[in-house]
Amino acid sequence: MQSLRQRMLAISREIELKRFLSSQEVIDRDDRFGGRHFKPLPVVLSKGEGVYLWDIDGKRYLDFLAGFATVNQGHCHPRLVKVLREQAGKLAHTSRAFYTEPHGEFAEYLTKLLGWDRFLPMNTGVEAGDTALKMARRWAYRVKKIPNNKATILFAQRNFWGRSLAAISASTDPNSYTDFGPYIPNFEKIPYDDLQALEKNFEDNPNICAFMVEPIQGEAGVVIPKDGYLKGVRDLCTKYNVLWIADEVQTGLGRTGKRLAVDHENQRPDILILGKALSGGMYPVSGVLADDEILLCLETGSHGSTFGGSPLGQRVALEAVKIVEEEKLAENANKLGKIVREELKKLPKDIALEVRGRGLLYGLIVNKDLAEGWDICLKLRDAGLLTRPAHGQIIRISPPLIINEEQLREGLDILKTTLTKI
Ligand SMILES: Cc1ncc(COP(=O)(O)O)c(C=O)c1O
Repeated sequence: MQSLRQRMLAISREIELKRFLSSQEVIDRDDRFGGRHFKPLPVVLSKGEGVYLWDIDGKRYLDFLAGFATVNQGHCHPRLVKVLREQAGKLAHTSRAFYTEPHGEFAEYLTKLLGWDRFLPMNTGVEAGDTALKMARRWAYRVKKIPNNKATILFAQRNFWGRSLAAISASTDPNSYTDFGPYIPNFEKIPYDDLQALEKNFEDNPNICAFMVEPIQGEAGVVIPKDGYLKGVRDLCTKYNVLWIADEVQTGLGRTGKRLAVDHENQRPDILILGKALSGGMYPVSGVLADDEILLCLETGSHGSTFGGSPLGQRVALEAVKIVEEEKLAENANKLGKIVREELKKLPKDIALEVRGRGLLYGLIVNKDLAEGWDICLKLRDAGLLTRPAHGQIIRISPPLIINEEQLREGLDILKTTLTKI
């Protein structure tokens, strides 16, 4: 027999469950209780499947953002949901205080697939970037023998690798770094896609230990370097004994139509940074790949993370990468990317100022006289397509890589119709 109190509790719980908030109420609550450092597009999502998202009123949208090029495998991929559930019910977290099977299993799979000696797992892209830089500084002092505290790291202008103090110290975007100083010293910035500037810096400063660069600059608005840039970076880094750190957090794992963006020029960086699609958005997993001489500079006690390498994360990541491989997502991105280019090029020149991208990572630069990027994204939302602008006028096109031709064309039609109707 339930007591009166138990019955009352059950009733109030039932009432609570039945109380739906409107979209506006959800947005207002976020605004009232959350931080304001990020401005979401006003749509409240509650469900995702494959390339589609649904809002809390049941309206369906085609996802052309994929969580900033993270959900390459599509929303709630059944294989990812399955392994997440299984592993969560078995062993979620131990920290690296102890051994678990998924850690080594994933490291073995990934290193053999990509061809580096070792993998060091972290959680977010920015932590993996920080890890790569720590590795490079250690290597600078212990292998290259740069005088103590003199190691310098080069970055390309307009890079983006996150929001930590180290990442904003490397940034050339005032929105990122203003009023957060003082910044980390010995971080120098040179123009992107400029081999002459790179060599000049290498010649002038023997204390440079690393050059960190995105093979395609994603957040800068999908900036593609000239053919030969990556090979040039490789050759110069080798010539001057500088580590090349490739940040493939956004471009890696099929996004640009190859397994890695450096594969477009068949180049191999010294340190590779992965994140985002490494776990398909199911759980935060990032990490760094490098060979023994570099990665083992971080010896016991010099680095760590409570969650990095957790059995749950590594099990999900293993499945996520296997999906990229087995479902041939890079090939799909390569094939469908050509359609994106073809279709967007059909837009009138006074609307689409530039179309640039590779695979399924595209930026469409829309004339400001037509409308602000933000307002265009609101109109696209109303028409059933979700994405966001980068730097005001660059409309991002980075759908899940499982998208098929029909779905892609549906999205491109919405985009073209919306832009030509404004
Ligand atoms: C190239 C690149 N590196 C690093 C990051 C940072 O990743 P996270 O937001 O997971 O820290 C991003 C995020 O967009 C990125 O695009």
